[in-house]
Amino acid sequence: MRRFQLLVVLALIAFPLFAAERGSQRRKLDPRLVPLPAEAPAPVDNPTTPEKVALGKQLFFDPRLSGNNTMSCASCHKPERWFADGIEWNKGETGVTLVRNTQTCLNVGFYSTFFWEGRAGSLEEQALGPIESEIEMNQDLEELERELNAVAGYVSQFQAVFGAKPNRKDVAKALAAYQRTLITGPSPYDRYLMGEDDALSDDAKRGLELFAGKARCVECHNGPNLTDGRFYRMGVSEEDVGRVKATGREDDRFRFRTPSLRNVAETAPYMHHGLFISLDAVLSFYYNGGADASNYDLPLDAPNLADRPTSDMQYLLAFLNSLTGTPPDFTPPKLP
Ligand code: HEC
Ligand code: HEC
Repeated sequence: MRRFQLLVVLALIAFPLFAAERGSQRRKLDPRLVPLPAEAPAPVDNPTTPEKVALGKQLFFDPRLSGNNTMSCASCHKPERWFADGIEWNKGETGVTLVRNTQTCLNVGFYSTFFWEGRAGSLEEQALGPIESEIEMNQDLEELERELNAVAGYVSQFQAVFGAKPNRKDVAKALAAYQRTLITGPSPYDRYLMGEDDALSDDAKRGLELFAGKARCVECHNGPNLTDGRFYRMGVSEEDVGRVKATGREDDRFRFRTPSLRNVAETAPYMHHGLFISLDAVLSFYYNGGADASNYDLPLDAPNLADRPTSDMQYLLAFLNSLTGTPPDFTPPKLP
């Protein structure tokens, strides 16, 4: 009888230890793989407040921000398209085609540089870019200030939030604050990292293992937003010179920022040029060693992944599909 009790006690002690060990193994998959926080950090001079976010949301959806009052941020960053647009290249207000794929505004609060080649250093700095750009919203900022000052609903909100009349600097701050709240809720991948063992299918678990292991995706796609925020020459295309335009450094030619992979299954087409229409196409690119090996910085198994079994791709695809979280509420605002 005593011996039986002893066994029970031992089992009670050992089981949680065993379970904790298994759990920690899963969570320790790679310390760089962590769930997405529920809030994005804000700069000290632009704290996120509900009133500012509400104002930023109106501005984001307001076509008054463009030269002919026909185009808003949401014309290209479509809420129902996960704040991207689902097409290769979009057109600006005057009909000029932009030769880069529209990035999503979801989870942008976790980046520290913006645009494909990282030419803006904050969301505040980024926001006036598309408004002023002749090939995007084609708006004169003086004219924008005049227009917003003629709308009583904006004048009172800017006064309440910033203590000033509508002006370009605060337009940028409000747009930035709104975008910092565009965070997707936990994906199956996040739930798995937080300990929910069956949140991922077996294929997705194998994909995660490859992602963080042999396929070495994690070398660049890591952190809460699955990007290291650095710039690589992937050999995707040589038409767009990439980061050299922002820095003037020859070594930055053809480099682009590692994009987040959050909700990536929802934001086709892919890469800065938007020419890969599916995740299958992206994976084939990786598995064929990229376009031009001499112009290529993948720290993957040499020479490339082409020798690996094609089932890898199926597993990686299942994993990429597990990165879709729940979208934030995107009911369009009532404009003043
Ligand atoms: C005509 C289409 C269009 C409009 C309108 C537009 N954007 Fe964009 N947006 C793009 C494209 C294309 C890119 C990528 C541009 C690049 O890398 O040069 C982009 C990139 C961005 C990024 C960078 C995301 C990242 O991952 O770095 C943010 C943030 C953004 N836009 C916010 C806005 C805001 C705010 C507005 C309104 C003031 C706006 N956009 C209007 C097409 C558009
Ligand atoms: C050396 C760093 C690096 C490694 C390793 C890497 N990536 Fe990427 N990834 C990037 C960069 C940079 C881009 C954007 C390239 C461009 O647009 O020219 C990208 C783009 C992508 C995209 C397209 C995202 C979008 O929104 O357009 C997907 C999907 C992707 N990578 C998945 C993977 C997978 C899966 C692996 C492992 C097989 C991997 N990556 C390995 C840096 C890397």
